[in-house]
Amino acid sequence: MSTAVPTLTIPITIQKTLAQFMDEHPNLRYTFFGGKGGVGKTVMAGAAAVGLAQRGHRVLLASTNPVHSLSSMLDQDVFGKPTPVEGVPNLWAYEIDTKDTIERAKKDIREKISWFLKYADIKGRADEFVEAATMNPAFEESAMFENMIELIFKDEYDVYVFDTAPTANARRLLGMSSVYTLWVNKMIQSREEARQLRLKLSFSKKEEEEDPLLDYLITFQKRIQRAKALLTDPEKTAFFFVTLPEALPIAVIRRFINWFTDFGIPIGGVIVNMYMDPATIPPDADEFVKNRVTMQQRYMKEIEQLFGPLVRTVVPLFDTEVRGVEMLKRTAAYLFAPAP
Ligand SMILES: Nc1ncnc2c1ncn2[C@@H]1O[C@H](COP(=O)(O)OP(=O)(O)O)[C@@H](O)[C@H]1O
Ligand SMILES: [Mg+2]
Repeated sequence: MSTAVPTLTIPITIQKTLAQFMDEHPNLRYTFFGGKGGVGKTVMAGAAAVGLAQRGHRVLLASTNPVHSLSSMLDQDVFGKPTPVEGVPNLWAYEIDTKDTIERAKKDIREKISWFLKYADIKGRADEFVEAATMNPAFEESAMFENMIELIFKDEYDVYVFDTAPTANARRLLGMSSVYTLWVNKMIQSREEARQLRLKLSFSKKEEEEDPLLDYLITFQKRIQRAKALLTDPEKTAFFFVTLPEALPIAVIRRFINWFTDFGIPIGGVIVNMYMDPATIPPDADEFVKNRVTMQQRYMKEIEQLFGPLVRTVVPLFDTEVRGVEMLKRTAAYLFAPAP
């Protein structure tokens, strides 16, 4: 069931639409939406999830943000567990409980630190170290990122649509992956040397005692490598960037796209949102409106120059906010529209 949408008049050529991109990527499973605050990331994630569900995939629309907006956008409570979205077969939505994740992560860290203090025979209370380890904003971000990875590894849906691109984390993750590999290899090597030495000195063939910290590092390293393999696979993963025909949102995604290109993270393309179609503006429209339309036309050209073949689709500025399933279906129809 697809809603017919009027064709937009746009001053640029779209070389490959979002619909074409999806057709060319039948194994796409992880999609993300990045961009400046307020440009419509949540709305585009929602509309993409609706569109993909309409195409027959089992889709999970998930939010890992501490500040959720899926329930409000869908007009339905989806907090705390994957919840079927009323009115859209094949679609589930899920706002992950941030507090819960953070508490779990803190408990986890406390156990490891306590163990390490005992192991290294250091006097001191784990609490102080836990405090130091968890009192920074990056900790919350990493906990959210872990949530996302956990969801992905559970592997219960065909396609995962994440409300926001964990831009900083994706970069950090990939950077971390090589650092951790170096570190873990180094630790394994020095432990092996120590073990050999002990064996020589003691003539004892006693089994090595367990080392939960090393086990943890190895497990963590494997998780990171697995996540990296998925998130850098252009058949499976696509990061989309949402912009408006305006200077700042363009500057923001331009930076993201450069980072992502450097890190080898697959870019699905650019979505232009809140476009004001000149063809729909009456001649006697307000000066204010006319000026904005003229400004947008200028930035559309800039978008074409900067992003060219990456521009996938243009969604108009609606006369209301995007709330409820009907509005999301309407947005999805534009998102997946054939080339004008
Ligand atoms: N094309 C559009 N037309 C009208 N309102 C829109 C459009 N896209 C988004 N909005 C509205 O703009 C606001 C910000 O969108 P949102 O998706 O929450 O942005 P972000 O997630 O990037 O911060 C919301 O109120 C949303 O309903
Ligand atoms: Mg949002």
